[in-house]
Amino acid sequence: MTVEYLLIGPMGAGKSTVGAALAEKLNLSFADTDFLIESDQSKSVSDIFIEDGESHFRLVEESIVIDALRDGDGVLALGGGAVTSPITQTAIKNSTALKIFLDISLSAVSPRVGFDSARPLLMVNPRQKWLELMEARRPIYEELADVKIDVSELSIAEIVESIILKRRNASDIKS
Ligand code: S3P
Repeated sequence: MTVEYLLIGPMGAGKSTVGAALAEKLNLSFADTDFLIESDQSKSVSDIFIEDGESHFRLVEESIVIDALRDGDGVLALGGGAVTSPITQTAIKNSTALKIFLDISLSAVSPRVGFDSARPLLMVNPRQKWLELMEARRPIYEELADVKIDVSELSIAEIVESIILKRRNASDIKS
């Protein structure tokens, strides 16, 4: 049992929606680390940020992601900032999952990242903040990913098809 598909990328790229659709299509299980964190802490991500602070959130996130990579299976979607932890980066590199970076432009993501209390980092100046985070993290996403898909113009079904195709191509190269 091992994670087969790992979705990384910024907030609003659709990691959770795409991950759930991919898992359904392939009859695999699906997990989302934000959701695992919320059940572990018995509160929402935004409440963790507000009541306990981002550094606490990052510590919890690191341990949840490491556990999920070690014990999980099927499709796993990570929160956008999970890749900033060096320990997590090593765990991702060691994972045999196909690592997929869902890339998206600011204009495509803009309608999705307006004022949203579920995304505490985007409470103030959401578009500018999103861009800053994306610019800082893009090199990490690029380094960790086996494949990158620009999802700006794609439907969920098209993204799922593209991932399945990339998986086939990756297996062809390995065999
Ligand atoms: C964050 C992304 C969020 C969530 C938290 C912090 C980030 O997950 O983990 O709000 O730092 O980019 P999504 O990428 O699933 O929105």
